[in-house]
Amino acid sequence: MSHHYIKFNNVHYTYPNGYEALKGVSFCITHGEKVALVGSNGAGKSTLLLHTNGLLLPTLGDVNVGDIPIVKKTLPLIRRAVGLVFQNPDDQLFMPTVEEDVAFGLVNMQLPPDEIERRVVESLKEVGALSLRKRAPYQLSGGQKRSVAIATVLSMEPDILIMDEPSSNLDPQARRLLMNQIESFTHTCLIATHDLEMVRELCKRTIIMNDGLIVADGETHALFADKELLEENGLE
Ligand SMILES: Nc1ncnc2c1ncn2[C@@H]1O[C@H](COP(=O)(O)OP(=O)(O)OP(=O)(O)O)[C@@H](O)[C@H]1O
Ligand SMILES: [Mg+2]
Repeated sequence: MSHHYIKFNNVHYTYPNGYEALKGVSFCITHGEKVALVGSNGAGKSTLLLHTNGLLLPTLGDVNVGDIPIVKKTLPLIRRAVGLVFQNPDDQLFMPTVEEDVAFGLVNMQLPPDEIERRVVESLKEVGALSLRKRAPYQLSGGQKRSVAIATVLSMEPDILIMDEPSSNLDPQARRLLMNQIESFTHTCLIATHDLEMVRELCKRTIIMNDGLIVADGETHALFADKELLEENGLE
């Protein structure tokens, strides 16, 4: 049994105010693929990503991680397999110190203290934020918060890594660290981003969304060579 792939089957999602943000989305990402999710503001990228670990459940259609359907009952299992970095780091950081934030999920997993310490140090190092470990997350800069939020997810060692605009607010050095990190992550990875340079470098495959629908899904270099397609979808 592999948890390392994720499959959307005709997923619709309507927000409680009646706005239909996903209008029938189907795709499958297989083991080890790195896939970019692009599209203009409001296209539905974040809404889609919130379905990958059950923070939102489809109004219609279904999502599977490996052979596990995402339903209320399977959420604890799903959340161990799927690590999601939110678009806004403030949604991810809520403890008094950075190290407590990174340890939070590990404590919940009831890992032994020395293993927690090892993972906290390792994941903060990976994002270049070890020197921030005693700081208060709410006092950090936007880019520092972003790096720490990424560390909170990496420390959980997920089978599938999902990131919503991970490079926004990062300075060139932090962005490079992030890209190295994503590159060395051997598991399945889905990244929503407006950073097309990053996509070009890291993701062989790209999914383009527009108005709640997938309008293209294919090899990045082929899609990015199609000027008309990019323009039509606000990707210049
Ligand atoms: N909580 C909500 N209630 C109602 N509508 C929402 C809610 N959250 C998002 N939407 C709407 O759903 C649509 C998709 O939003 P979403 O955040 O998924 O877009 P996005 O592609 O991630 O955009 P961005 O590039 O700006 O992050 C938008 O029209 C948005 O206004
Ligand atoms: Mg978004």
